Amino acid sequence: MVYSPTQQEGHVAVFGGSGLGKTSALLIPTLRSWNGTSFTIDISGDICKNVNMQRKMIYEPANLNSVPYNIFGTIDRMEDEDDQNEALEEIAFLLMPDDERMSDTSKFFQVEGRKILTAALIAFYHIGMDFIPICEKIVRSGWKDLFQAIDETGYNKATQYINSFEGASEQNTAGCKQSCDIVLKLFATNEKVKKTIRRPSVGEIDFLPVRIENHNVFVVVEDSKLKIYAPLLHIITAQSLEYFSQRSNEKKHTILFCLDEFASLGKMEITDALRKLRKKRIRIMMLTQSMADIDLIYGRDERMAMMNNYRFKVVLGASDTDTQEYFAKLIGYQDTKKYSKSKSASQTTQIESEAKEWAVEPAELDRLKKELVLLHPDGYMKLKKNFYYK
Ligand SMILES: Nc1ncnc2c1ncn2[C@@H]1O[C@H](COP(=O)(O)OP(=O)(O)OP(=O)(O)O)[C@@H](O)[C@H]1O
Ligand SMILES: [Mg+2]
Repeated sequence: MVYSPTQQEGHVAVFGGSGLGKTSALLIPTLRSWNGTSFTIDISGDICKNVNMQRKMIYEPANLNSVPYNIFGTIDRMEDEDDQNEALEEIAFLLMPDDERMSDTSKFFQVEGRKILTAALIAFYHIGMDFIPICEKIVRSGWKDLFQAIDETGYNKATQYINSFEGASEQNTAGCKQSCDIVLKLFATNEKVKKTIRRPSVGEIDFLPVRIENHNVFVVVEDSKLKIYAPLLHIITAQSLEYFSQRSNEKKHTILFCLDEFASLGKMEITDALRKLRKKRIRIMMLTQSMADIDLIYGRDERMAMMNNYRFKVVLGASDTDTQEYFAKLIGYQDTKKYSKSKSASQTTQIESEAKEWAVEPAELDRLKKELVLLHPDGYMKLKKNFYYK
């Protein structure tokens, strides 16, 4: 048995195609023996059910009886108004991120639409509205009515975001407002999401990142609904990472932050988080099918930087040659001795030569079967998978 004790440092990355055991041979056994607190995105729904932990908190956006996610909870606890506005602008960024792959026209509507969203979030937050009612108000109003409502709050720090629309073409402004409506659709129209994202009622407990300090939080989303809920998962993950970055270095217990099906979560500031959170007693465990999935979202350069920050890397299987070569190179070469004989009429000479060979052949990583390869700071190990249900 090989394990890394809870209170030690080091993030973990797990790679393997579907069905090879990422969830059942690594994540579930890890959670079962974890003795800090944790946060887990549970897409299959079989993680939470199969780990018996104390102080569980389950957030399930598709379940009307779920604990609510308090998206404004952290902001409500801030004392400084500018900090609050910054955090609100951050939410607008998460919903409408910059995307290099967009055409110039789409980029324009995205950036300008984000200004409208930021203005509305800031203006209406400060008159006490919650996130979902704000989304509904934006989506239900035409841009003129919306701008007027923002103006009427009299909150200058909000109106400054939309001042630049004065004198702009009405058609363009309508287009910007529309790109805003598209990203808010989930929050303004999905009845379940609308009921499970809110501030808590009196006496009710809510989920917000600070709860991970003393709960084992599971965010449960059905696989088939993953696409619909992706923007929500993205916000929850990003808000949690932001909370962790502010976590005091004095905190004594370690938090495990599990991102199963990592590539489905969209682009996150993960590389930065990996670097900064190590010292804050946060351990990130990322599980994904292949490098190619990560490259699609982050690009090759960022993937390389990201990978350097995982102290432990586990390969259950790698089917594409890129991933195979990457890991084979990390595992390294071994020196072998080769012997050859040369014969002449009078004598036979034996020649010894050094040769370099893969310690594990790249293609072998696609047929590990019952085994896995663990890369750690001192080398590598081949281990037998340990399924929780066996
Ligand atoms: N409770 C169980 N009883 C029996 N077999 C199981 C159980 N849970 C999972 N398995 C099997 O174990 C294997 C590994 O499943 P697991 O869900 O861990 O894969 P995974 O790597 O997480 O895949 P995915 O990327 O699809 O999530 C699969 O063949 C699955 O059918
Ligand atoms: Mg899985």
